[in-house]
Amino acid sequence: MCGIVGAVSERDVQGILLEGLRRLEYRGYDSAGMAVIDGDHQVQRARELGKVAALSDAIDANPLDGQLGIAHTRWATHGEPSQLNAHPHMSGDRLAIVHNGIIENYQDLREELKADGFTFTSQTDTEVVAHLIEKNYRAVGDLYDAVKAAITRLRGAYALAVIHADEPDHMVVCREGSPLVVGVGIGENFIASDQLALLPVTDRFMFLEEGDIADIRKEKVSIHDREGTPVERKITRFEHGADSVDKGEYRHFMLKEIYEQPRVVKATMEGRLTDSSVLEQALGTDAADLLENVRHVQIIACGTSYHAGMVARYWIEELAGVPCSVEVASEYRYRKHVIQPDTLFLCISQSGETADTLAALRQAKEAGFRAALAICNVPGSSLVRESDLVIMTQAGPEIGVASTKAFTTQLTALLIFTLALARHNGLAPEKEAEIVKAIHLVPGQVNDVLALDGEIEELSKAFMDKNHSLFLGRGSQFPVAMEGALKLKEISYIHAEAYPAGELKHGPLALVDSEMPVVTVAPNNDLVEKLKSNLEEVRARGGELFVFADKEAGVKSEEGIHVMQIPSVHEITAPIVYTVPLQLLSYHVAVLKGTDVDQPRNLAKSVTVE
Ligand code: AGP
Repeated sequence: MCGIVGAVSERDVQGILLEGLRRLEYRGYDSAGMAVIDGDHQVQRARELGKVAALSDAIDANPLDGQLGIAHTRWATHGEPSQLNAHPHMSGDRLAIVHNGIIENYQDLREELKADGFTFTSQTDTEVVAHLIEKNYRAVGDLYDAVKAAITRLRGAYALAVIHADEPDHMVVCREGSPLVVGVGIGENFIASDQLALLPVTDRFMFLEEGDIADIRKEKVSIHDREGTPVERKITRFEHGADSVDKGEYRHFMLKEIYEQPRVVKATMEGRLTDSSVLEQALGTDAADLLENVRHVQIIACGTSYHAGMVARYWIEELAGVPCSVEVASEYRYRKHVIQPDTLFLCISQSGETADTLAALRQAKEAGFRAALAICNVPGSSLVRESDLVIMTQAGPEIGVASTKAFTTQLTALLIFTLALARHNGLAPEKEAEIVKAIHLVPGQVNDVLALDGEIEELSKAFMDKNHSLFLGRGSQFPVAMEGALKLKEISYIHAEAYPAGELKHGPLALVDSEMPVVTVAPNNDLVEKLKSNLEEVRARGGELFVFADKEAGVKSEEGIHVMQIPSVHEITAPIVYTVPLQLLSYHVAVLKGTDVDQPRNLAKSVTVE
């Protein structure tokens, strides 16, 4: 998704802006650009199709010197990826703007502005906003008032940063539906769509709220809310070290993040568990009252976070005996629902900024749910701020577009939540103790799986020349199979579909032949015998099986079956552990195929538009 960086300082800002854009590359983009106001009070702009490196080369050749500037990485929504459509957009040669989000009524505004004599040079919705602000500026002669007036005409989602050569000492920014954070410096201030962009220059941040508009100067940040009332937004410190966003010794962020899992799963448990029980108070002071009264759980999420929710449904119904529904946010938000009394609305999101998930939450808050709980990885994100109760995962910044450590920490948090809910619904203390002990073993078990990396790399060679693959699982391993398939398709571009193994003979078996590798996760649980029969169905059709199986499960390597033995784990925690070999498999296939592992084509890390 698009990224924004801006700076106003005593020093030249081009280096700060370029580094900020590099740090936003993980979000996915197709072009990049920058505009600064130079010492002669002129706007200087550079825009390039492709990577930030291309913009950097262009700026090396023609430096953009100045102490006030804005920059952007664009992920095309209106108009193809091209230099002309890249941000910043200008109105005339004095006003420049960068924008994240989508302006839904841009066509009407475009016609109106054309009739007013404005000329358009791009196909974007953003250029409409540039001209609209300039039109207001001509009327009121003040950038802040011009932006304030212009945004009353916009429908849709936006985070905007605007500069004007006639007012070279400040920028005006605002947000509605897209994230924007102010980085607080000493004698300089910054803005960005993600705090990670600004870590080299500050660790103090103010998160703008929906409808906020802010005037950013070197010495001062003034914020007004939607009603025009001056407001203070709390300054928070970034909690993770600045090096958490470096690859370190790893070739890709994804691999680094896979290897971080023992540590971050442990961090997500810390302070929330004793040796044998869940510390309910650690979920929030209101948690006990809330959980006592929950009769149904509605989980909403997208992508990998949705798969975490699907695993949680098995846990919640099995351990707490509470009915649980799970749905992708993009579907949920656009249909009518029947809300059961005392339903807890539970959103899961790594970023806390996913547009569909936030929209579903905002609807839910109007719709009579008991309360809204968020499981999220980014402190200060919109989801965290807008939910009644929050359980933070402790994955640290996740940079690889393919989610890995976010998923396993979400599962950890969801299992802890489930146990707390189950305690209010009659779970025996001995059972709670048994599962808590199993959770404590997970970091070590994940380490054991990581030790199989070399063997998994070897297996991955069998996928290199394949175009399709099937992933099978049963019970709570079905969502793990879905997550494995999502990983393989998003980074290796191999078509991968997941099925509950019992569904095989209802259709997908027709696809099985020697060109269709079939990947299966087989922990040693009640379903393993049934799963073995499903594997025989595949073998009988000449399919090649790749099975990640519990060493006690009795599945052996032989003709047509490659078995990777996984250390024995408790069946409740098995989804966390069995996810890891599938992540490694996808990673190695992608590396062999030479794809862009951390920034796969067409994808964005944080999907902040619909
Ligand atoms: C997974 O690898 C994806 N990149 C994607 O499916 C992601 O999980 C989804 O967009 C949801 O994001 P969120 O967790 O930040 O809400």
